[in-house]
Amino acid sequence: MKLGLTTKIIPADTAAAGIAARCLRDGGLVAFPTETVYGLGADATDARAVARLYEAKGRPSFNPLIAHVHDLAAAERIACFDARSRRLAEAFWPGPLTLVLPRAPGCPVSDLATAGLETIAVRVPAHALARDILRAVGGPVVAPSANISGHVSPTTAAHVFADLAGRIDLIVDGGPVAVGVESTIVACAGTPLLLRPGGLPRADIARVLGEPLARPPEDTDAGEAHPLAPGMLASHYAPRTPVRLHARHLEPGEVLLAFGPCAIPGAEATNAMNLSPTGDPVEAAANLFGYLRLLDARGARAIAVMPIPDEGLGEAINDRLRRAAVPQS
Ligand code: TXA
Ligand code: MG
Repeated sequence: MKLGLTTKIIPADTAAAGIAARCLRDGGLVAFPTETVYGLGADATDARAVARLYEAKGRPSFNPLIAHVHDLAAAERIACFDARSRRLAEAFWPGPLTLVLPRAPGCPVSDLATAGLETIAVRVPAHALARDILRAVGGPVVAPSANISGHVSPTTAAHVFADLAGRIDLIVDGGPVAVGVESTIVACAGTPLLLRPGGLPRADIARVLGEPLARPPEDTDAGEAHPLAPGMLASHYAPRTPVRLHARHLEPGEVLLAFGPCAIPGAEATNAMNLSPTGDPVEAAANLFGYLRLLDARGARAIAVMPIPDEGLGEAINDRLRRAAVPQS
């Protein structure tokens, strides 16, 4: 279903941030690159723009959005920091870390964007163009990944166009993103908890906290109505082709998502793509969603995925692959 808009694509030149900011301030939906994945931005204080954003993505409105701002001072206008969360912000912003914090009194972000929660997810992205846009808007911009809800996140402007053409106003094409998986989400309203592994490795965060960073207990995350990170439903980030994990051989009709230098019998250039031939998780994260999209387009029986170590960005890669492997309803 198209919503009948004409989606413009503009290059990331010196005029781009101004054009994007004007469109956002007018209630428009603008896709732009961040260092993690492309985001679909809307003015966070404009309930009508936020409602249009949920509609364009086909996203359930109980799934709250991340408010993006250009620096820590802007973040402090919408969220309450304590010593620990300020330490994390100072260590990792701008960068691929989202903090879930108590909403600040007088926070102007629309309740629709936070799904009525007492907390708000905040992030300062490290991409220069994204920060220029945020500075030019002058207020918080909500930006979920710029894909149809449940689909694989976009790492190029072409991915955004494939999902959202006709449904949004503008795409700023800044080329492929650097990190390739979404930000790490840490809840900091009390004991810090890792809600979503992502572009910032868990060990880096633990080092700054001076203690290990725990995942939330399984049972509090189980209910689909009130999961702790509401967007982290079991099936997500999913290609249409079934995904088979921990593959050490290739079944007939399968294509292979490979990792590392070891070859699998039957894997060739025609039916396999290697996330990182040297086994580098940073390179693998940058290639993950693009390769999943390309393999998905082959019409194979399944995408077989070789095992990937859980270290560094491997934790986020394996999290996304597990969700991609859950059968879709
Ligand atoms: O890297 C990223 O984070 C990208 C780029 C565009 O910034 N954005 C992104 O947004 O991944 P999205 O909407 O696809 O994922 C946001 C996640 C969802 O799982 C949502 O449920 C969770 O953040 N979230 C948002 N607000 C929350 C809150 N108050 N408490 C817990 N989880 C929250
Ligand atoms: Mg998303």
